[in-house]
Order: sequence, then structure tokens, then C-alpha cells
Amino acid sequence: MKNFWQKIEKPMVTTTPMAGITDSAWRQICKMWGADVVHTEFVSADALYHASKKTLKMIQYDPMEQPVVVQLFGKRPEMYSRAAKIVEATGVTGIDINFGCPAKKVAGHGGGICILRDMDTVKKIIEEVTNAVKIPVSVKTRIGLNKIQGQPQAGQINVFDFIEAIKDYNISALIVHGRTYEIPFTGPVDLEALKQTGEKFKKYFPQGVYLINGSFQSVESVVADIKYAQADGVALSRSLYGQPWLFKQIKDYIKTGKYDEVSWDIIKDTAIKHAHLLWVTKGSKGFKEMRKHLLFYVKGRPDAAKLRQMLVAVDKPKDVEKIFKKI
Ligand SMILES: Cc1cc2nc3c(=O)[nH]c(=O)nc-3n(C[C@H](O)[C@H](O)[C@H](O)COP(=O)(O)O)c2cc1C
Repeated sequence: MKNFWQKIEKPMVTTTPMAGITDSAWRQICKMWGADVVHTEFVSADALYHASKKTLKMIQYDPMEQPVVVQLFGKRPEMYSRAAKIVEATGVTGIDINFGCPAKKVAGHGGGICILRDMDTVKKIIEEVTNAVKIPVSVKTRIGLNKIQGQPQAGQINVFDFIEAIKDYNISALIVHGRTYEIPFTGPVDLEALKQTGEKFKKYFPQGVYLINGSFQSVESVVADIKYAQADGVALSRSLYGQPWLFKQIKDYIKTGKYDEVSWDIIKDTAIKHAHLLWVTKGSKGFKEMRKHLLFYVKGRPDAAKLRQMLVAVDKPKDVEKIFKKI
């Protein structure tokens, strides 16, 4: 039987998990603009194992967001089975496992991308999760660590080793961020490595969905990159900041060869909707997080500097409406 990944029309356009960004309000906004799949922020398998209230709150979602994939991180395989079952019981559509995080507080303790230094642990984690749940399991990683950008075969550990290690497990999708651990977030992605990764993944997982990720700047470049890498689609991250309509634009461009720019009225409407959704889901305390999004929504406007001064002080959706109604 086909799983949900296989039922989505290709090329697909999804989010990636992003800590501090892909909360329920943002996922709903992405969904409204046509995201095929949305991801939660990464959540700790250890915290879920211990039924942390804060972590359980992070995986709450609205049914309109589906398909929702919850991403787990953690380096201790024994935490994953219970954590995965808790995730499955919420009714989400999939589970992703983080094998790519370079952040000090995760990779510095041997988690995230650094788990790849010990492929036995990679295997154990995947085994725990795939044995525990019936929903599809996906994985996200980078093109490698201790390797040289632009030379996919060089270096100590790379995504090809990772694919070899996971080849016997029931993996439904793979997202690869085309940068290394050593150059975590800047510069272009290694498209050649992404292409070769897709070929290797499809060899072992002909039904698996392969998504490329990283540094995608324009609608045209995203579509060219998907084609070049022969991927099943793209997973978007920072490029979505302040422009969640990218989902629709990319899909329109794939289907028709053109796409519409968004008007300021649409930008305002999206930002105000986003503000209301954040208020409903996180209340007055969480609403401060809206400020960073608002700065992105007005980026590039000639009056952005003046607007920024007002937007960094908003406390409630009405404040956002008031500022935006004046312009
Ligand atoms: C603020 C921030 C938070 C992130 N959180 C996660 C996360 O929780 N899980 C994950 O797999 N990747 C995370 N990432 C990595 C992104 O998903 C993505 O792989 C990376 O930003 C590269 O894509 P981009 O160049 O299009 O932004 C995060 C990145 C940023 C900038």
C-alpha cells in the first residue's frame, strides 16, 4: 500500500523542520500557501520519553496542517521507541529523525550530524523507531562531515555511508541539506553531491521520496536545482522567511512556466493572519515571536526602516493590524 509520501504529486514542495520557526502558526501559513508537507520543530526524544509537558505542547497541531511530520532528535536509541509511539498517538502523518543538526548543544554532545560517526547508533535509532510505529519514517541529514565541499567522494564520513547504513530499514523519505557540518549554513549547496545522493538513495529505495534542501534563492533556481538533482522535490527553510507564498509560486512555475508576484495587500493579509494564528496558538507570551516574522514580511520596502521600529514593539494582533492599515 502506498504511504502518504508516495501519494503526493511530484515535484513536491515541503518545509523542513526549523527550531524556533516551524510552530503551528507558521505551519498553517505554509499550508495555506500550498506546502505539500509541513514539519514541526525538532523535539527531543529524551524529553518525549519523559513526557515533558513543554515538548508535548510543541507537537500540538491543527488538523488543517496535515500531513504533519514530527522531527525527533537525540543520540540515545533507547529513548526513541516510546517517544515515537507518543508521536504516533497524536495522529500526525509521519516521523522524521534528525541526523543533520550541527548546533553545539546537539552535535557537541554527539547528537545530530555527529551521530554519523557511529553508524551502529544510526541503525539502532532507526530500528527503534521503525519497529515502534506504523506511520512512515523519514530521515534528514547533510552531505557529510569531515569532507570537502565540492568533492562528494572525499572526506571521512558522507551521506553515501549514511545511505549504506540505513539501506535495510523501512525509510520512506530522505531530506538532504546540501552542505557539510563544517560549513553549516553559508554558501551554495553542493548540487553535484545532492544529485549523486539521490541516485544512491533510489538504488536502495526506489519508492522512497528524495528531497533536496538548502540555499535556494529564487523560484527559477529551485526548479532548476530539482531538475538537475533529479529529486522528487524540495524542502524549503530560510528562503520562506517573510515569503511563504514561495510554495505556490514554485508550483505555478513548474506547471505553467510563470508565476505571479504577490501584492502588498496579500503580504499584509498573510502577516495579519499569521499574527492571529500565533496569538491563538501561543497567547500573549509567545506573541513576541511574531516580531521577527514581521521584519521579514516588510523586508525590501522603501519604508522598511520606519516600519521596523514599530513592528519590533507589537504585543498583539491588533497592533499589527493598526500598523499595516496605515500603509
Ligand atoms: C533557525 C534554524 C532552525 C533549524 N532547525 C532545524 C531543526 O529543528 N531540524 C532540522 O533538521 N534542521 C533544522 N535547521 C536546518 C534547516 O532545516 C535547513 O536544513 C537549513 O536551514 C538549510 O536550508 P536553507 O539554506 O534553505 O535555510 C534549522 C535551521 C535554522 C536556520
